Amino acid sequence: MSLTRVQRNAQKAGRSLANRETPFIYNEWYVVALSRELSRELTPRTVLGRQIVMFRKEDGTPVALDNRCGHRSFPLSRSTLDGDTVVCGYHGLRYNDQGVCVEVPSQCNCAGISIRSYPLHQQGPIIWIWMGEPEEADLSKIPAMPMLEEGWVTSEDYMPLKASYVYLHENLLDLTHLSFLHANTFGTPDYARAEFDTDIGEDRFLLKRYVVPTRLPPVWAKPTGLEGKDAARITTSDFVSPALHIVHAEFYDVSLSEAERPDQRIKTAHIPTPETATSTHYFVVHGRNFAREENEVTEFMHEQLMAAFNEDVVGLEAMEELLASRSDDDDFFEISLKADSASLSMRRYLKRRAEAEAAEREADSQANPQTQVAKPVQALA
Ligand code: FES
Ligand SMILES: [Fe+2]
Repeated sequence: MSLTRVQRNAQKAGRSLANRETPFIYNEWYVVALSRELSRELTPRTVLGRQIVMFRKEDGTPVALDNRCGHRSFPLSRSTLDGDTVVCGYHGLRYNDQGVCVEVPSQCNCAGISIRSYPLHQQGPIIWIWMGEPEEADLSKIPAMPMLEEGWVTSEDYMPLKASYVYLHENLLDLTHLSFLHANTFGTPDYARAEFDTDIGEDRFLLKRYVVPTRLPPVWAKPTGLEGKDAARITTSDFVSPALHIVHAEFYDVSLSEAERPDQRIKTAHIPTPETATSTHYFVVHGRNFAREENEVTEFMHEQLMAAFNEDVVGLEAMEELLASRSDDDDFFEISLKADSASLSMRRYLKRRAEAEAAEREADSQANPQTQVAKPVQALA
């Protein structure tokens, strides 16, 4: 098929954008689990294409190891947790919480046998993991989570998403879809045409949308007491890192002066952790700074928001299914719109970061072939 000039230009521009084929970015802290998911059970999970196993030590500290016995690849998640050690279910090699083998039942010497362990850090309801170069794991690089500060009430959740994390990030920097994909939940017809500002930096991408005046959907109108009133709805989508996106929302009655408006803010962390190239662990931590004692408000908002975010999951999975079914991509293009400017910059950034890391890994493995920790092959599912 011959493409039009617009389509050809779109195809060319697309070559610099991250997509489902872009390698993972390893040198970031990612959320690996909700804190409540980890216990004394051996819990497997695939993160950035690598299978890991997690558990809590007897003192509650979370641990993550490769889920592959160093002897013959038996999954440690199907083995036994004994105190703070894991005993492989095949021939009984015993690993400590650092992945060091401390016992081989069939011989007295186990020196030098180990598997990889991953730094974890629990922060309130979530657990972060570092899958990158071990010497670069630095807790100060964990991005700020303002809704976990004092004075905010939060709830959290998890949804498996069968689509690339790149498109979830793009979806979050794109507020024009609210009027359509979320027409039955938190979108309103005026949303797509509303004014917006962007703030595009080296590694920070922000989009702010002003819907003023508007009528709020029930998820926001009920808890803020703005039902039936002309309200302002100001939403900021903030790409913080490849592992975190925060949406800030504020609402007020437009008939009130600035001094009269109650401080009612919402902050929602959307946390996309790549599982494979085409699947994502989608964690959500939602917070508000008002009606803090009212549990029914927490439950109402949580339920309504997760129903809306599930619409994103359904939409992104439908797109992924369509992309996966294409056999010939010679005529593939994505036409971008003015409203996509922040997400285009963000996708270019993800691609640059991913390719720079991949080149560094390649150079390292050529320079030190024996010392390299094998990276998983990223295959499209
Ligand atoms: S495979 Fe684990 S001990 Fe042999
Ligand atoms: Fe959405």
